[in-house]
Amino acid sequence: MDLRIRMTEAEIAQEAGDIFCRCVTQKPNAALGLATGATPLALYAYLQQEYQRGIVSFREVQTFNLDEYCDLPKYHRNSYFTYMSENLFSQIDVQDHNIHFLDGNTTDVAAEANAYAQAIVDAGGIDIQLLGIGRNGHIGFNEPADHFTDGVFRTKLSESTLEANRIYFSDIAMPRYALTMGIKDILQARQIILIATGEKKAEAVRAMVKGPVTPQCPASVLQQHADVIVFLDEAAASLLS
Ligand code: PGA
Repeated sequence: MDLRIRMTEAEIAQEAGDIFCRCVTQKPNAALGLATGATPLALYAYLQQEYQRGIVSFREVQTFNLDEYCDLPKYHRNSYFTYMSENLFSQIDVQDHNIHFLDGNTTDVAAEANAYAQAIVDAGGIDIQLLGIGRNGHIGFNEPADHFTDGVFRTKLSESTLEANRIYFSDIAMPRYALTMGIKDILQARQIILIATGEKKAEAVRAMVKGPVTPQCPASVLQQHADVIVFLDEAAASLLS
């Protein structure tokens, strides 16, 4: 793992964002794996800015988001599709037909999983996968478990995840299930960029970097990938001595 500890979120957004921009400039039809949550917001703002400055175009890019809540309409204000539309897609020139999202309301998860896997193959595989990390070490919605998952599946959100995300669901019940790409799908990306900021992530970061590779800390599996860049602020890195 290539650990890069930076002083500010803005520095991380710029450095990580430049990696995305270079990738897309060199390969205009790159496939980007995208994540949601609070962490990538600064990065998405930076990508918007670079698009508006004419530095980069996403016109031929394909995007694949990691996960989506179940039992929430696609256009609900709390869906991850809405998050991506508001924070990135509506602000850049990515084309709608190149945006790939899991359907959290599908009645046939196996068919959804197969279709997503095929779409990724058709796009030539994911070039860069962006990840955050949960306080419990989850990546995507791969919660601590007794095995590493393969393929898109429906997952029950852990108490830790429900707790962390409850702030977004003040007036409606938070979904308890989600569809997520599995660990082995994530590992197939050519390059992985994980961003973690804030002291609440410090223990998960320590377990990811220094702990054993175990599905109890799903992010620890990234130790086995050949090209992972981990951007941390000092708080998130505070337990790495
Ligand atoms: P966060 O979520 O960016 O909102 O902290 C990260 C994650 O759960 O993967």
